[in-house]
Amino acid sequence: MNRRYRKTLIAGNWKMNKTASETKAFADELKTMLPKAKWCDVLVCVPYVNIPAAQKAFKDTRVMVGAENVSEYEKGAYTGEVSAAMLKDLGVKYVIVGHSERRQYWNDTDVIVNKKALAAIEAGLYPIICVGESLEQRELGITKELIDLQVKTALANVPADKMRHVVIAYEPIWAIGTGRTATAEQANEVNQEIRTVIRKLYGARVARSVTILYGGSMNDQNAEELLAQPDVDGGLIGGASLVPTKLTTIINAANQE
Ligand code: PGA
Repeated sequence: MNRRYRKTLIAGNWKMNKTASETKAFADELKTMLPKAKWCDVLVCVPYVNIPAAQKAFKDTRVMVGAENVSEYEKGAYTGEVSAAMLKDLGVKYVIVGHSERRQYWNDTDVIVNKKALAAIEAGLYPIICVGESLEQRELGITKELIDLQVKTALANVPADKMRHVVIAYEPIWAIGTGRTATAEQANEVNQEIRTVIRKLYGARVARSVTILYGGSMNDQNAEELLAQPDVDGGLIGGASLVPTKLTTIINAANQE
């Protein structure tokens, strides 16, 4: 983390978990243990249908409620899709874009991820753009090239003045939901590379101010070490964000003065 230049963000990604009533129960429990998160922003991204319930449950707390996906289209005949304007109208600020599960199961390509990021920015939302390599790609030694390409494509046509709304999350696919975390050094190395790409595209000032998260089996045990890295500005947390005690420990790790 480097709070001098950029904000720290602890973001839960609930994926397809918890009903509306389970969301309320989670919030009630979390509220009893939540620190006054002075030094980091806290967000939970929940399934579309549970956004209003989550907003109600987290009202009067510092926990923001975000979405896990957004349509690349503005409106129209796209059955089952949800637009950026609809999310904005609900009071949502952050939306995850290009999560590896979306890329893998719904064929969200780099180009589609770019369209979704642009749609989100256009509507006034803050996209959390996910990038990350597979195990095969890491073993082939092409992580850097792949990440460069994903970041550059995702940011195509994003103007410099909108970069303060953009968060990037580095999530190595081999670490997601596997219990196998990148080492703190591996996480920092790729996050640093992402910052270098942003510097080449937008200059040093913008690069310094962009929040870059790490995600992939971040939990209550390893968060402190990961967050101690200078280029790891927070976490995108799946499994551990579903458990109030674990999420609280992670927030506390990010919240140290
Ligand atoms: P995980 O998921 O923390 O369960 O590995 C992270 C993510 O997919 O965002």
